[in-house]
Amino acid sequence: MHNRLDQRNTKRAAPCRAVLTSIPLIIQATGHLSPRMQNQPRYLELADHIGACFDKFGDSYRGVDWWTEQDAHARYKVMLDLAEQRAGERPTLLDLGCGCGHLLDYIRSQDIAWIRYRGADVLPKFVEHCRAKFPGIAFDCVDILRDPTYDPNVDFVAMNGVFTLKLSMTQDDMFAFFESMLVRAFAIARRGIAFNVMSDHVDRRRDIHFHVPFDRLATFITRRLGRRFVIRHDFLPYEYAVYVLK
Ligand SMILES: C[S@@+](CC[C@H](N)C(=O)[O-])C[C@H]1O[C@@H](n2cnc3c(N)ncnc32)[C@H](O)[C@@H]1O
Repeated sequence: MHNRLDQRNTKRAAPCRAVLTSIPLIIQATGHLSPRMQNQPRYLELADHIGACFDKFGDSYRGVDWWTEQDAHARYKVMLDLAEQRAGERPTLLDLGCGCGHLLDYIRSQDIAWIRYRGADVLPKFVEHCRAKFPGIAFDCVDILRDPTYDPNVDFVAMNGVFTLKLSMTQDDMFAFFESMLVRAFAIARRGIAFNVMSDHVDRRRDIHFHVPFDRLATFITRRLGRRFVIRHDFLPYEYAVYVLK
């Protein structure tokens, strides 16, 4: 998993080197945050971190900061399960925070033909990479919090790995980002959204991870999004996925 707790053996847990080196080094080297980091919203630190992993490891599960390919595939399956209930309609799915487009790689490797995929990411380098890798597939470079007009016209929105790290953000700042993203993604989706976060029911935690208590999330969802939601804590031990449906 995301340079966080190893999903299978916590003794192997180690943060991705990019976490330990790239961000502190930028601050250490300059003595202050670079102008880009000063002017950008705090939550873009999360994408910048994944971008640093991509620079280091390239188009691979490590390049989007997942710990094992097997676990990454388990997540892709869970994200697709959101839309499978509508398979007969060939639903459209926006992979928001698509990284290298590994969800589409997975879809193709499994010969899944019932989903119509579109990708989006806030980092231009991922979008450029995906456009070159998947000719003919739409990829948008967008920050949905800063572009209120963005409307990709999709049935479902999946956000896989966008909310599992918080890095140096405070828990309050991370909740503010997370909740704003959920509201906006839910408004974009015609039928529903899926996302994953770190479980609060773990035997070990690191400050860089975003652990979300079920109750807090359920309270937010019922107040702001609705009462049709599913919590899945069945696919990997240290995280869970949520579907919110219209
Ligand atoms: C851990 S990677 C996961 C990539 C992909 N979903 C996967 O599982 O293979 C998280 C991705 O979310 C993107 N991201 C982070 N913050 C974002 C934001 N505010 N809007 C859109 N994408 C974002 C990052 O650039 C990165 O590509």
